[in-house]
Amino acid sequence: MTRPCFDVRDAVVVITGGTGGIGSATARELLRRGAKVAVLDLHPDTARIAERMSADSAIGVVADVRDRASLDRAVAEVVDRFGGIDVAIANAGILSRSATLRTTSASSIPSTPAWTRSSPAAANSCSSVPYSPSSTAWAPSPTP
Ligand SMILES: NC(=O)c1ccc[n+]([C@@H]2O[C@H](COP(=O)([O-])OP(=O)(O)OC[C@H]3O[C@@H](n4cnc5c(N)ncnc54)[C@H](O)[C@@H]3O)[C@@H](O)[C@H]2O)c1
Repeated sequence: MTRPCFDVRDAVVVITGGTGGIGSATARELLRRGAKVAVLDLHPDTARIAERMSADSAIGVVADVRDRASLDRAVAEVVDRFGGIDVAIANAGILSRSATLRTTSASSIPSTPAWTRSSPAAANSCSSVPYSPSSTAWAPSPTP
């Protein structure tokens, strides 16, 4: 199976829960691929954690995804630093606190994107697709 890989160079990506396990790994991979990354998290050291990821290409802002005003402030800070936002990854608080894929029933996550069900081999097998700010196909279904 071949899936598209998006070229994220210079895309500004916001990731919530970006100091946690999956969030920080995703942030680091996006930075490795040339994206600018805004890490939003409850963690009080979020700014310092993001700076350690990349002083030039990452920004960390303390924000609570349950609090609209806090998100508005964080977005304003990100836009001020990077000039806009191209992609938002809603990673924080998507399942209950202790949940993992092993302990979560499939029926409780009916909209799980296809990529979370891909094997590691499939994840590494993809063809390059140029990043486009107007693209709406950020998490596409695998091509047959
Ligand atoms: N680890 C797994 O196996 C697994 C599987 C499926 C889904 N998930 C989900 O993926 C997400 C990330 O998982 P993880 O293992 O990296 O978790 P994690 O606990 O390592 O990281 C979660 C991060 O989200 C932050 N956070 C929590 N509530 C927040 C809020 N209200 N506002 C902003 N930030 C908040 C935390 O401070 C933490 O840094 C979680 O929502 C989890 O439920 C995890």
